[in-house]
Amino acid sequence: MKTILITGCSSGYGLETARLFHAKGWNVVATMRTPRPEILAHADRLRVLPLDVTRSASVQHALELAGPIDVLVNNAGIGLFGAFEATPMDTVREVFETNTFGTMAMTQAVLPQFRTRRSGLVINVTSTATMVPFPLVAAYTASKTAIEGFTESLALELAQFDVRVKLIEPGYGPSTRFAANGGERMQGLIPGPYMAYAQSIFATFGAAAAVTTEAAVAEAVWHAANDPAATLRYPAGDDAIALPQAR
Ligand SMILES: NC(=O)c1ccc[n+]([C@@H]2O[C@H](COP(=O)([O-])OP(=O)(O)OC[C@H]3O[C@@H](n4cnc5c(N)ncnc54)[C@H](OP(=O)(O)O)[C@@H]3O)[C@@H](O)[C@H]2O)c1
Repeated sequence: MKTILITGCSSGYGLETARLFHAKGWNVVATMRTPRPEILAHADRLRVLPLDVTRSASVQHALELAGPIDVLVNNAGIGLFGAFEATPMDTVREVFETNTFGTMAMTQAVLPQFRTRRSGLVINVTSTATMVPFPLVAAYTASKTAIEGFTESLALELAQFDVRVKLIEPGYGPSTRFAANGGERMQGLIPGPYMAYAQSIFATFGAAAAVTTEAAVAEAVWHAANDPAATLRYPAGDDAIALPQAR
């Protein structure tokens, strides 16, 4: 029986992915910054562990408690919508600490066991913002685009050890806690000169014909984890799947 460890399972895509893999019979290590075991049914094959991907002691501790794993999903992430000109560099760094360096730290921490066993898969969750440019998300896009390049390069050097690395690229998912979780961070990031433009962009989000659901992302992760092909990228969600066709 295979074991998957998922970061950021307190809500959204990570929570749904934990539920799906458990329902399909895997051992699931659902990690959360602040563990709330009650949001997942109490069950065999399911453990909730504390993990903040920005703290190296937390990363090491979670992996020690987890024991051997077969698949790591780097899903934990934070959003940032605002004019780059108005975004404090501390906020840019905060986004990179989670989305970019957190993903790298988790990956580095599991590689010894994967390389030694000559098996293992890292799945990094990025965004359709890396596929086509969206305005007012420059720092966020940078944090996720870094992970696209990181994953592409890493896949090459790990192939010799039969360790694989893949990307999930979700589209716009308004039903997760992504916007609410970023609300405080985004205060004051749309100054007057950008306001009219930002409102027009908000309006297009509100009118989106296709969006990404938690279930679509969980299914994409399931497909990536079980796909023997050397596919690197898996768009997730109706809007994400439509994007390459539109290009
Ligand atoms: N929703 C979208 O429109 C969208 C689109 C494309 C890509 N994505 C990506 O999809 C992933 C999941 O997002 P979501 O939409 O499901 O949002 P979400 O509901 O806000 O979930 C994000 C999860 O990441 C966790 N997290 C944040 N910082 C963390 C840290 N330092 N250590 C560990 N966990 C941390 C959050 O935990 P707390 O509850 O403790 O904050 C939460 O569990 C993210 O990587 C996001 O960038 C989202």
